[in-house]
Amino acid sequence: MRQTLPLVSIVLSLLFSSFISAKEVRLYTQRHYTADKQFFAQFTKDTGIEVKVIKAGANELLTRLKAEKAAPQADLFITTDAAALDRADAAGLLDKLNSEKIQSRIPEGLQGKNGTWVPITMRGRVIVYSKARAGKNLPKTYKDLASSQWRGRVLIRSSSSGYNQSLLASILAAEGRPAALAWAQGVKNNMARPPQGGDRDQVRGVAQGLGELAVTNTYYLGLLEKSDDPKDRAARAAVGVIFPNQNGRGAHVNVSAAGIVKGAKNRPHAVALLEFLTSSEVQAGYQKMTSEFAVTKGVEPEPLQKNWGSFKADYASLHELAGHHEEAVKIFDLAGWK
Ligand SMILES: [Fe+2]
Repeated sequence: MRQTLPLVSIVLSLLFSSFISAKEVRLYTQRHYTADKQFFAQFTKDTGIEVKVIKAGANELLTRLKAEKAAPQADLFITTDAAALDRADAAGLLDKLNSEKIQSRIPEGLQGKNGTWVPITMRGRVIVYSKARAGKNLPKTYKDLASSQWRGRVLIRSSSSGYNQSLLASILAAEGRPAALAWAQGVKNNMARPPQGGDRDQVRGVAQGLGELAVTNTYYLGLLEKSDDPKDRAARAAVGVIFPNQNGRGAHVNVSAAGIVKGAKNRPHAVALLEFLTSSEVQAGYQKMTSEFAVTKGVEPEPLQKNWGSFKADYASLHELAGHHEEAVKIFDLAGWK
């Protein structure tokens, strides 16, 4: 009996130490990039912390986080849209990050207002034009896309796209409902064809002569330029890039961003992963691999990105998207934008 007690306590302490040293971070993410997978693998190699990933749409993940609020099954929530993180924050699902190291790396305007999320990458939503056919009087603003000058000449994807919803939400936030409705109706009237395909298909459409203007996220231009398909590379080469609203509030941008889940079991590991993802090396790596913009200070854009031009970004609307998202969807419906 005198022997058994120490033995039991040794076994117990071994069990306990193996339990607490199950080094992992559990991720709910909306992203589906090979680059992420590679960076997570690198992180595990460097730290021994396993990255467990569950991928789904933002709404599905939000519903899950709400259902698990009493016993969180995720440590980190990553979305491709600032609005989804603001919604998680408003539902009390996120914790303050409180990391000077991470937060000092990133412009304040790109971080969640309550200190509960930070961006990982950024993109702009830009207008591209046919170098051969669009003429000299090019659009300078999103509003110009709605001008009758472009009747039947604009290619843009469906209103079910989160990218368009986020753009319209930013217009709603900055210019109000009548202007947002007029814009949606004007662009709908200017469409070269009923919305179909993704952003890259709109750029391809311009190259094929279906229209003269298209709307796309910036990184898709990078993906076309680096494509194995010569037709895609030619499509990219056939268009010029316009960052809208440069004399106003700046071009619409959105972020992939991450928030620490309130009650996260592996909070220190989640913070370590965020430190890693916002390091200069990984930020530069994202620019190279996905053509998304780095969000940390002092990381130079790739030459391919510099070719798009430098631009002023609309950081202010980024924090207004969650509050205008629902209304944006209604306005698209009202305008008959499929
Ligand atoms: Fe995308």
